[in-house]
Formats: sequence, structure tokens, C-alpha cells
Amino acid sequence: MSEPYSDIVMEHFMNPRNVGEIENADGVGTVGNPACGDIMKMFLKIEKNIIIDAKFKTFGCGAAIASSSMATEMIKGKTIEEALEITNQAVTQALGGLPKVKRHCSVLAEQALQSSLDDYYKKKGVESPIKLKPEDELHEE
Ligand code: FES
Repeated sequence: MSEPYSDIVMEHFMNPRNVGEIENADGVGTVGNPACGDIMKMFLKIEKNIIIDAKFKTFGCGAAIASSSMATEMIKGKTIEEALEITNQAVTQALGGLPKVKRHCSVLAEQALQSSLDDYYKKKGVESPIKLKPEDELHEE
């Protein structure tokens, strides 16, 4: 039997924050989960090294939507360096946990964040310090 979702997960699934797109975003990243085919796209607006806005579009399960919502909330107002410290475990923890079978859904949020920041560096013509990790190297716990 599957574990129940936390109230925070349900709240972010029912009322996701930051859904949508940012026109002329400074960084855009799209990632897909090869296991289930779900897709997450993240848009960032960055000024003076600070993420001033973040939006997402997720074509995926409720856990992925809640993870996107929480991750975008967590990175707003943070520096790029602070945002890069945010792992899928941190997102899962902020959500009050995810059932074990759904933890991979939060990995999409970490990947989308890293991919959108990588795009930011590329757009600026600066060498990206981000080493995009393959799916199997991302944290599941
Ligand atoms: Fe695909 Fe959750 S089942 S991201």
C-alpha cells in the first residue's frame, strides 16, 4: 500500500505556486524523467546574481508538481550559489516528505533548477560551473 502524502504536498499540488512562463527568462531548463516520461520546464529571472523570479511548467504527477512549486518558492530571493545548494532532498524535506516510490519526482526539480542555471551561464557566454548529473547519480533518498 502506498504511503499517504503530507498536507504540504497536497497543498502545493492543489494550489501550486509559480506556475507559468517568464518571458525573456535569463535561464530556461527542461528535463525529463526517463522512467515515467514526465517533463519539467523551469524559467528564471536573475538580476545581480539573485533569482528574482522563478516559474515552472510541469507535465507530470502530483508529486512532481508539488516539488516544482516548492523548489521555485525556495529559490526566489536566493543567490545562484545558494540555489545550487538546494538538492532534491531539501525539496522533499520542505514538503514534509514524499512516499519512497515518489522521491524520484523531486529529482526532476533539482535537475530543472540546475539545467536552467546552466542555461543562464550559457546565455551570458560564461563557462558554466554546473556539472549536470545523469539521472542515476542524483540522490534518491
Ligand atoms: Fe513521473 Fe512523478 S511519476 S515525475
